[in-house]
Amino acid sequence: MVRKDTPPALCYLPAMSTQHPVIVLTGASSGIGAALAVELARSEGARIALLARRAELLEEVAIEVRKAGGEALVLSCDVVDEAAVAQAVEQTRATFGAVDLAIANAGVGLAMGANDLSYSIIKKVMDINYLGAATLLAAVVPTMLAEGRGHIAVVSSIASYRGLRRSGPYCASKAALSTLVEALRLELAPQGVAVTAIHPGFVKTPMTDKNRFPMPFMVPLPKAARIIARGLAARKREINFPWPMVTLVKLLSWLPGWLFDRLMQRSPK
Ligand SMILES: NC(=O)c1ccc[n+]([C@@H]2O[C@H](COP(=O)([O-])OP(=O)(O)OC[C@H]3O[C@@H](n4cnc5c(N)ncnc54)[C@H](OP(=O)(O)O)[C@@H]3O)[C@@H](O)[C@H]2O)c1
Repeated sequence: MVRKDTPPALCYLPAMSTQHPVIVLTGASSGIGAALAVELARSEGARIALLARRAELLEEVAIEVRKAGGEALVLSCDVVDEAAVAQAVEQTRATFGAVDLAIANAGVGLAMGANDLSYSIIKKVMDINYLGAATLLAAVVPTMLAEGRGHIAVVSSIASYRGLRRSGPYCASKAALSTLVEALRLELAPQGVAVTAIHPGFVKTPMTDKNRFPMPFMVPLPKAARIIARGLAARKREINFPWPMVTLVKLLSWLPGWLFDRLMQRSPK
């Protein structure tokens, strides 16, 4: 039996169902999700439910997960569909016997300037990045609380620290996500459920491949996956990387409004 007052362990094992943790991961068909699935299979022998809409890509990731020493279950679904996500979590429990770690990683990065303000873009980004994480949290947290163990993680962004030009909907969705899990952590951690907020800077993925602006301190995908997997294994509260970009954006977040506005209005579009 896991004691509820046990401090966070340095690895999964004491709080997990077996030595090979069962993980539900959204956004597993591409980029950070796909690389993280393979890394968790390699480092933990993880048994992973891979969720995203593109089933054919998930099947390819599943092959890589198995090659890396893990087990994979492909569950194609849209994270915005609450019932579908709940069903995927049930299917994971039925297949692997438990859920030790749930990672809400699915997300979209749509740009929107003030002159093109669009309700449908704001809604889409909020639906996927924020409410699409909430569907997973709602599906796993009650059972984790009943068991007094488990771990939830969300992939937010350093863009959650402050509103950035042409990225309002994205920054807002990630700020909402980080704030939600910060609040949840205050109640979940004392009850044995760890909570991790992941704040990457720029990582080379299909999402950033579309960007046509400078992306300083870009992190290669395998390195990002290793940093995240290590942080999750240590059950960190937050995983922020790379440090130069984190420092830069944290500094921006501490600036008074008038100075922030001046600097950002002068920055290249
Ligand atoms: N790359 C970066 O620089 C960076 C930095 C900070 C934070 N992040 C965050 O990291 C996460 C992963 O991004 P990425 O860079 O790896 O992008 P990506 O390669 O475009 O992957 C996005 C993933 O989200 C899934 N997804 C999107 N909408 C979905 C929906 N409605 N239902 C289910 N799955 C959905 C996609 O799968 P399907 O299309 O198959 O459904 C895909 O697997 C995102 O939350 C992103 O905001 C990325």
